[in-house]
Amino acid sequence: MDKAQALRDLYADLEKTAPSLPLATKASDIVPGEGNPDADIFFIGEAPGYHESVQRRPFVGVSGKFLRKTMTEVGLNEEDVYIGNIVKVRPPDNRDPSPAEILAYKQYLDQEIEIIEPLLIVTLGRFSMAKFLPDVKISQVHGRLHKVVWNQKALFVFPMYHPAAALRGTKMRESFATDMKKVPKVLKWVQQQQETIALESDVKDILL
Ligand code: URA
Repeated sequence: MDKAQALRDLYADLEKTAPSLPLATKASDIVPGEGNPDADIFFIGEAPGYHESVQRRPFVGVSGKFLRKTMTEVGLNEEDVYIGNIVKVRPPDNRDPSPAEILAYKQYLDQEIEIIEPLLIVTLGRFSMAKFLPDVKISQVHGRLHKVVWNQKALFVFPMYHPAAALRGTKMRESFATDMKKVPKVLKWVQQQQETIALESDVKDILL
């Protein structure tokens, strides 16, 4: 099965289950991830806001527009990345998602990651960062590449501030833009690592 079909199946399942999940009452409350299912980069945010829940698309409100503009400015095409959230339904009044809500949607994000198999995960804000880096402070680690073990696999994670936080002040905005500028370079480096690993295993196959 191709990745696009696997994602459609995943979201069909999630929509069916929606009434029994926290925050959701019906299938249309779910805001699916979007983008290229074969993307090398997966941007993971927190939870949909008002505009996202109306349009049923992630990151289309004010902070989403800022995120997408900043991505485009560094040469990342929206069509080449995948964007999603840890919680798939808007929390009331855009409050922070609770640990129970994050846990309830965990299996869906986990499956999304398993299907897409991104080379690089860019976390937006402290909630998605905490999924991979639970014991760190975002102010200390943003803009730095981390290699983590997740579901028994090595994964590269690049934490960034949430774009809504970046919009709150000039310093944060600049910091967000500086970190985003690094993303294409970081991706290139990660891609080279993958090629080296692939090459090493080819050589091993020849040697054995
Ligand atoms: N903030 C998020 O974390 N996700 C969205 O989709 C929109 C705003």
